[in-house]
Amino acid sequence: MNTLIKNVLVVGAGVMGRQIAMSVALAGYQTTVQDISSDMLGAAQSNLNSWAEGQVAKGKLDRVAADTTFDRLSWTTDLEDAASTADLVVEAATERLDIKTEIFATLGRCAPPHAILTTNSSTLGSSKVAGATNRPDKVCNLHFFNPALVMKCVEVVRHEGTSQGTADTVLEFARRLGKQPVLLAREIPGFIANRLMGALQHEALALAGAGIATKEDIDITARAALGHPMGPFELMDMIGLDVIDFIAQAIHAETRQDVDKPDPTVAALVAQGMLGRKSGAGFYVYGHGPASSTPRKST
Ligand SMILES: NC(=O)c1ccc[n+]([C@@H]2O[C@H](COP(=O)([O-])OP(=O)(O)OC[C@H]3O[C@@H](n4cnc5c(N)ncnc54)[C@H](O)[C@@H]3O)[C@@H](O)[C@H]2O)c1
Repeated sequence: MNTLIKNVLVVGAGVMGRQIAMSVALAGYQTTVQDISSDMLGAAQSNLNSWAEGQVAKGKLDRVAADTTFDRLSWTTDLEDAASTADLVVEAATERLDIKTEIFATLGRCAPPHAILTTNSSTLGSSKVAGATNRPDKVCNLHFFNPALVMKCVEVVRHEGTSQGTADTVLEFARRLGKQPVLLAREIPGFIANRLMGALQHEALALAGAGIATKEDIDITARAALGHPMGPFELMDMIGLDVIDFIAQAIHAETRQDVDKPDPTVAALVAQGMLGRKSGAGFYVYGHGPASSTPRKST
């Protein structure tokens, strides 16, 4: 199969959907963004406008290129209509199986038979929604990282029924976005990146919990010995401890293995509203409220 992709539909205009849509439009595709909330569509447009203005001001994006990119973007709350002309869909709606199942059922019904249907879900393998469509062979995960306009890697995950042609087309599409795609031959909770990150975080929490070293020294070791751009505690604070906890819960729900159990230290911080940078404190306290990026002192 060699599907010609011209029109791309992004479902969901939240944190991920809006940046995925901009990446797709920047690569030259006609891009429709659909969300059930017109407020979210409005917020996404103004957020992307500010981003593009910033890029133009820094000389990273040509004014004409910015304008033509916005000309390629259209915005709607009507999923059925938006799906009817899509060659490829990236679903980036709220992380709930019932919501995604309904979206994929609609996509199966309304998208042209050749259209490929992907999900950006971090925790739900596409096998969970493929059955709601009339084309499970054309369904897979296409997992971007946050912020999607910046992060190069995307994970393409085949479920048992995903065809080779679908995987090849999605890999090629990701390359055309300027991304560096990786392929997972079958589903596994956490995919590659979250599993690698989880293993490092697990060990970091165990070392600190056993009193072997402070979190500051563990972070220094990751940076100064391993060349990581930030330490595991700094990274967890940046991602958001609620997100870390949610991912761990989802992986544990699938594997049921003790080693994957959500960490109680992280869960306790989340219960206190200490979510990391976005709440002003997590493993570290941040100097200037939620927007601060510099750890001030440890908690
Ligand atoms: N946030 C991250 O760091 C991150 C990273 C990678 C992948 N993801 C995945 O991306 C997806 C979206 O996450 P997010 O952080 O952008 O969420 P978000 O809450 O910022 O946005 C979700 C959007 O989906 C919309 N929505 C809800 N129900 C809908 C429906 N039925 N039809 C259309 N739109 C609907 C909401 O109005 C909202 O605008 C999730 O599957 C998540 O696992 C998130």
